[in-house]
Amino acid sequence: MAEFTLPKNSKIVEGKTYDFSTKGGNNKVFSIYRWDPDAKELPKVDKYIIDLDKCGPMVLDAIIYIKNEIDPTLTFRRSCREGICGSCAMNIDGTNTLACTKSIQSVKKAVKIYPLPHMKVAKDLVPDLKHFYDQYASIKPWLQSETPPPAEKERLQSKAEREKIDGLYECILCACCSTSCPSYWWNSDRYLGPAALLQSYRWLADSRDESTEERLDALEDPFKLYRCHTIMNCAKTCPKGLNPAKAIAEIKKMMASRSLETN
Ligand code: SF4
Ligand code: SF4
Ligand code: FES
Repeated sequence: MAEFTLPKNSKIVEGKTYDFSTKGGNNKVFSIYRWDPDAKELPKVDKYIIDLDKCGPMVLDAIIYIKNEIDPTLTFRRSCREGICGSCAMNIDGTNTLACTKSIQSVKKAVKIYPLPHMKVAKDLVPDLKHFYDQYASIKPWLQSETPPPAEKERLQSKAEREKIDGLYECILCACCSTSCPSYWWNSDRYLGPAALLQSYRWLADSRDESTEERLDALEDPFKLYRCHTIMNCAKTCPKGLNPAKAIAEIKKMMASRSLETN
């Protein structure tokens, strides 16, 4: 019989409890994944009990409070605090989302916080996003045009042309979608995943871009694009309300119509 062993560091043990509750206070438990690559220990879940009256209303406010007042070793990324930089993406209460826009009150029981799933962890809540960014770079996310812009003018679009990139340009590359996608979990070495593909379609849909054929050629591969099986986790989890699955379907349609044209 085949024997399976769990990957190194996949067993999570119980960690410390930091009880900073106040008597009769508005107390809440935060269970937070901790892993320090230098400590040579298994990952653990530490519990922090805090009085919510001492911090702001969002999950990010609570973890900033924990870091500042209770445990300075807690490590996470954050920048804008208003849902536009994408750096505070993590798994909260079982869903990939942005800590800065997730309200504590929306979580009924203890707030369970883990790093984005199926990524290497750099430390605590910080995933290693190098491969994700390399895949983003691979779709050449910039305007490519042979035609020079009109003299002393911007490249203009009609209102209808501009509307075609609505629902695409808003992507903040938080990686919530790709790390919720089962096809990406198992094939991220070759499948580009919903975030990079939505970004690719953002340029395919842009009337000013002249590299449509080259962009489609680069995606003509059994894995890069076609591992999407329309499971829709990506659209369900996107904290910006975008629909990467729809963008992927649009790329597949473009592929199909150009192969009809050439046959
Ligand atoms: S599509 Fe949504 S979930 Fe995916 S990277 Fe962009 S903003 Fe994040
Ligand atoms: S629809 Fe495609 S990209 Fe989105 S979660 Fe499913 S397989 Fe992944
Ligand atoms: S801190 Fe920028 S999106 Fe949350």
